Amino acid sequence: MIPRETAQTIVETARINEVVGEFVSLKRRGVNLIGLCPFHNEKTPSFNVNTAKNIFKCFGCGEGGDAVSFLMKHEHFTYPEALRYLAKKYGIPIQEEEQTPEMIQQMNEREGLFNVTEFAKNYFVDILNNNDNGRAIGLSYFRERGFSPAIIEKFQLGYCLDEWENFTKTAITKGYNADYLVKTGLSIRKDDGTLYDRFKGRVMFPIHNLSGRTIGFGGRTLSSDKKTAKYVNSPESDIYSKSKVLYGLYFSKSAIVQQDSCLLVEGYTDVISLHQAGVENVVASSGTSLTTEQIKLISRYTKNIVMLYDGDAAGVKASFRGLEMILKEGLNVRIVLFPDGQDPDSFACSHRSEDVQKFITENAVDFIRFKSDLLLKEANGDPIKKTALLKDVVSSIALIPDEISRSVYTTECSRILDFPETVLISEINKILRANFKKQFSENAENDVPIETHGRASLQQTIEQPIDINEQIATAERGIIRILVNYHQSEISVTNEETDEIEKRNVGNYIFNEITNDELTFENPLYNLIFQAFSAGTSALSEVEGQLIADSYFLHHENEQIKQLTIDLMTFPHTISENWEEKGIQVKKECEDEQLFRIIRGDLLQFRLYKLEKMIDDVREKLKNELNEENLQILVADLAKFQRGRAKISELLGRKVTK
Ligand code: CTP
Ligand code: MN
Repeated sequence: MIPRETAQTIVETARINEVVGEFVSLKRRGVNLIGLCPFHNEKTPSFNVNTAKNIFKCFGCGEGGDAVSFLMKHEHFTYPEALRYLAKKYGIPIQEEEQTPEMIQQMNEREGLFNVTEFAKNYFVDILNNNDNGRAIGLSYFRERGFSPAIIEKFQLGYCLDEWENFTKTAITKGYNADYLVKTGLSIRKDDGTLYDRFKGRVMFPIHNLSGRTIGFGGRTLSSDKKTAKYVNSPESDIYSKSKVLYGLYFSKSAIVQQDSCLLVEGYTDVISLHQAGVENVVASSGTSLTTEQIKLISRYTKNIVMLYDGDAAGVKASFRGLEMILKEGLNVRIVLFPDGQDPDSFACSHRSEDVQKFITENAVDFIRFKSDLLLKEANGDPIKKTALLKDVVSSIALIPDEISRSVYTTECSRILDFPETVLISEINKILRANFKKQFSENAENDVPIETHGRASLQQTIEQPIDINEQIATAERGIIRILVNYHQSEISVTNEETDEIEKRNVGNYIFNEITNDELTFENPLYNLIFQAFSAGTSALSEVEGQLIADSYFLHHENEQIKQLTIDLMTFPHTISENWEEKGIQVKKECEDEQLFRIIRGDLLQFRLYKLEKMIDDVREKLKNELNEENLQILVADLAKFQRGRAKISELLGRKVTK
């Protein structure tokens, strides 16, 4: 238990900007600090940190709170964990009770996994530094590689004795739960139920999360036997998800923000050696090939990635995939190739600090030059191979989501490969178009059929595909029917802005809704009625409060309108049917909220069907459009209509994908 007064001191001492700043790159805007929200995916920052009030608030997703709530949410800390973290950060001592074996057992599972991992890290560090074998084997290995004592300490490197169960036994004796040892992969359970050490005889690289807690390990063998795996890594667990972690990020994040650039390397030792050489903005995707989640993680701190690769052919080809993923995420990427046979680690160890930094700066090339140089060499003048190269580079450019960057790279590509830009542009457009189309057909498949209008029977919907024109006709008829029958009635309308209920006239309400959205009725007769209504009202608008007469449509000079009005007035329709069923007096209900709900529902349906139709139209046009500019316009329209559709569906309480 943390004493109440201590908790108070901790909360008061913690500065929100300093706490959040550890995880989110913040920039000053006015009196606030602003950054990309870590709780939801966003491209423009809506995450605000108010230093005066000592709170954060995201206007995108609504998350907000103080330093403690931030840590609980972001690091999945419990309340005491968050307090402990802050106490450590601000050097506030906590008088805590010693943990007994019973207490350890009672802790919840996640916490248990964290605890056992923390224990293991300390144990491996202790063996490396204080055990005779640890020093003779593990420590001397690191020293021979050129790691300084300071860097060994900083990265909390360790050693696991070359015995079967020294670690596991020690942990069990100290009261750590055997299940947690297995779940974190530190121990492996044999068929007979006994446990042994996974990392036996390996030097240990702890892997940290963003708050510096150890969540897993990489263990390197010291044997040169080819049959032994060079690295053994912790398996996935509740606290360690490989695809979401970057090795070294905890130590590198402030340098990454400061330099607005992140170096990406392959291995643990590359990260460590570069740090030792004073190059600290570096992370590794150790243990997995680069994932989109890892790229997104980096993009919270910087949009600029520099990939460092060793010069051998395999390494280079491996870099292509990562490179394309980074482009796709909209980040800038450059590549540094090290001289043949050298990796960042060996280069950093054999060069002076300044030279390492200088080498990286001077040799970083953009992906176009990188790919071109490499593939040109391969093509060796062969025109077929050169065409393939061109297609390769062009397809990379097409991945870039931002149009401006795309065109910059196109120019660059034309220059480097000495190829007319217009041809490149048309190639890129071809790819984009193909992608668009592919996306649309995927979207179309994902579309959930819109629920039919209440007036169409369920059976009908199951038996035959919904005809959008029919739907629109039904919706239109519904609206016109209400207009003709109830235009004089009063309804209670909820004002969307003020949330207040106001009395409105049905005719005016429908009129406004239809004209505000510039909707027109497909059926010319309905349009005529609507126009007649609007003419009627505007003719009388000088007389305040006066409405067009009840019989206005019935006695209209236009014969068609007259006929339809009679039709609509006498035709049994849903409203009265429902009401009669429920024994409700139509007249009375007309003045009630219920009529409003029905009208609002009908209008929404109408809009929805109109949008459906527009979406279909655009899709149809997209199939045949070849002009690039028109294509862009169509795509924008489609997105707009789809957004509109999603919004209305939501208002109607329906689920529509995308
Ligand atoms: N790796 C792994 N399992 C292996 C080999 C490699 O998980 N069997 C991962 C490790 O994270 C390693 C990275 O891939 O750090 C790069 O591999 P490599 O270059 O072979 O290792 P280095 O870290 O450079 O180790 P060393 O310099 O000691 O050879
Ligand atoms: Mn290496």
